[in-house]
Amino acid sequence: MRKIHVIGIGAGDPDQLTLQAVKALRSTDVFFILDKGEEKSDLVQLRRDILDAHIPDGAYRLVEARDPDRDRAAGGSAYSPAVGDWRSRRADIYEDLIARELGEEESGAFLVWGDPALYDSTLGILEEILERGAVTFTYDVVPGISSVSALAARHRTGLNRVARPVQITTGRRLAEGFPEGVDDVVVMLDAHQVFRQYADADDDMDVYWGAYIGTADEILISGPLAEAAPRITSARAEARARKGWIMDTYLLRRRLRDER
Ligand SMILES: C[S@@+](CC[C@H](N)C(=O)[O-])C[C@H]1O[C@@H](n2cnc3c(N)ncnc32)[C@H](O)[C@@H]1O
Repeated sequence: MRKIHVIGIGAGDPDQLTLQAVKALRSTDVFFILDKGEEKSDLVQLRRDILDAHIPDGAYRLVEARDPDRDRAAGGSAYSPAVGDWRSRRADIYEDLIARELGEEESGAFLVWGDPALYDSTLGILEEILERGAVTFTYDVVPGISSVSALAARHRTGLNRVARPVQITTGRRLAEGFPEGVDDVVVMLDAHQVFRQYADADDDMDVYWGAYIGTADEILISGPLAEAAPRITSARAEARARKGWIMDTYLLRRRLRDER
């Protein structure tokens, strides 16, 4: 039976692979890499660097495919159907790759950015393919260091405060309002710098922001939100213009009454 490893590869630093991930890489016959287009070709190269760093004799087979484009304009009630449609088109491509490129007794791997459990669709896609029933395989999941863990480590901070919760959410959700019942919120997938919405309204918030964490282009900014927000905005705009793409994550932390 075909076997698939879903391997979390960390958020950009090849040293952040776990030993379990390295073992899984070394037991893989075929790697599947999806290219999201020119802007993200750096990310494909980073995956290649990871393979070269950990499979020294270069004895691996790599199959690249083009990721389908997503309707990013779809908002409101059209958002979930647009994502669902994109996921099914991805499932078509993955299904085809597995059937065509993986022998019955071979093992393949999808290298997932950060950790496969966080804002990644690979596991859902593999389940969709198995449900369709046209190709069969078993799969396992190797956890990776998420960009959230990397962000906290680089800022030398925890994500939660003593006995308190932390919430991980998206820029899209944060735009609807600061989550209820939490004072520590990690925000991913924020193309619109929604933190600015809270910079004027609430002087009692700190931000810990990071872009390209773990790579040579890493940028870290932290401080009181009202003061740090303009610095983040200009650093982000400059980096995005220079590289053509950006990946950033941040922690918003509301000061507790006894910390004010
Ligand atoms: C599709 S999600 C994937 C998350 C990934 N599975 C993880 O565990 O980090 C992409 C988002 O992750 C965050 N991200 C991923 N890598 C990053 C990095 N090296 N530096 C900063 N943020 C990163 C950004 O918020 C980006 O919009």
